[in-house]
Amino acid sequence: MTPLLSIEEVSVSFSQHKRSIAAVRQVSLAVAARECVGIVGESGSGKTQVFMAVMGLLAANARADGSVRFEGHDILATAPEHLNRVRGSKLTMIFQDPMTSLTPHLKIGTQLAEVLVCHAGKSWSEARIAARRMLERVRVPEPIRRLNQYPHELSGGLRQRVMIGMSLLCDPMLVIADEPTTALDVTVQAQIIELLRAMREEVGTALVLISHDLAVVAGLADRILVMYAGRIVESATAVELFRHAQHPYTAELLKCIPSLSSPRLERLPTLAGQPPQPGDSLPGCMFAPRCSRAAERCRVERPLLAPTVGIARHVACHYPLPP
Ligand SMILES: Nc1ncnc2c1ncn2[C@@H]1O[C@H](COP(=O)(O)OP(=O)(O)OP(=O)(O)O)[C@@H](O)[C@H]1O
Ligand SMILES: [Mg+2]
Repeated sequence: MTPLLSIEEVSVSFSQHKRSIAAVRQVSLAVAARECVGIVGESGSGKTQVFMAVMGLLAANARADGSVRFEGHDILATAPEHLNRVRGSKLTMIFQDPMTSLTPHLKIGTQLAEVLVCHAGKSWSEARIAARRMLERVRVPEPIRRLNQYPHELSGGLRQRVMIGMSLLCDPMLVIADEPTTALDVTVQAQIIELLRAMREEVGTALVLISHDLAVVAGLADRILVMYAGRIVESATAVELFRHAQHPYTAELLKCIPSLSSPRLERLPTLAGQPPQPGDSLPGCMFAPRCSRAAERCRVERPLLAPTVGIARHVACHYPLPP
């Protein structure tokens, strides 16, 4: 089966002070129609930049190599004006911070309607009716009043619902949700995850859910990819990952999840050390300096299996082979 989104050997680097700094290193992944893929990893591991490359929205000092294909379109080779036919309609992104990704000086109704006017050829009056219906679908209370409000007049949870609604307006085939719950308190987080689950079931869209929180992703994703220092180091189903994490980094991440079953309140474990800086390069596994199992010269599975749809898991090497 041809995947909906296919990313092959994508690298992203930034030129800064005359140096080229690698932020994403040869990432390959695929997303099938209706599938939900979770992406987890520490801050700075490259999660957002992979999908900024997919959307063709990298910063001006960035360079992307490799291949990104969405529904047959070669995204990296497509000019921005042609990309707009796909981006925002069939392929949409819910950005990391709903406060800054909504336009502050435009009313919610105008921002929602504009998507339909630009991408679906609707008139403004038709688009406003559809925008109101969408606010109802994403459970925004008092939708007519909200259409006439500015983003700063809405709570964080409501802004996130508006962003989710906006991403679904044109019945997309794939939605990329970048940390959709990070800025929200725990109860609102749970509501937003429930909303994403319901939307997936209703609309049947594929979903990429990016988060630094494994527990959030585990409840929704069919498959989870773990990123470290710009690379995918492990790919597995949530159950496999929680039962038998292969990569030491994943195992350490799992230890950091709070559990209600622990006998008494204990200090949560944290990962010792710091991830490498984007420009750093190490032979072998980038996690080795922080890895408690590095001395074992652990089993190495090479080469990486192509993470195409249907392949259950692959694990990157995490220590150079013994000489
Ligand atoms: N315009 C830029 N110029 C230079 N470096 C950049 C630029 N944008 C991003 N980076 C670097 O790329 C790396 C990867 O960033 P990215 O935003 O993908 O991280 P992330 O995994 O999404 O982190 P977080 O969980 O904090 O959102 C980071 O080290 C970041 O500093
Ligand atoms: Mg990010």
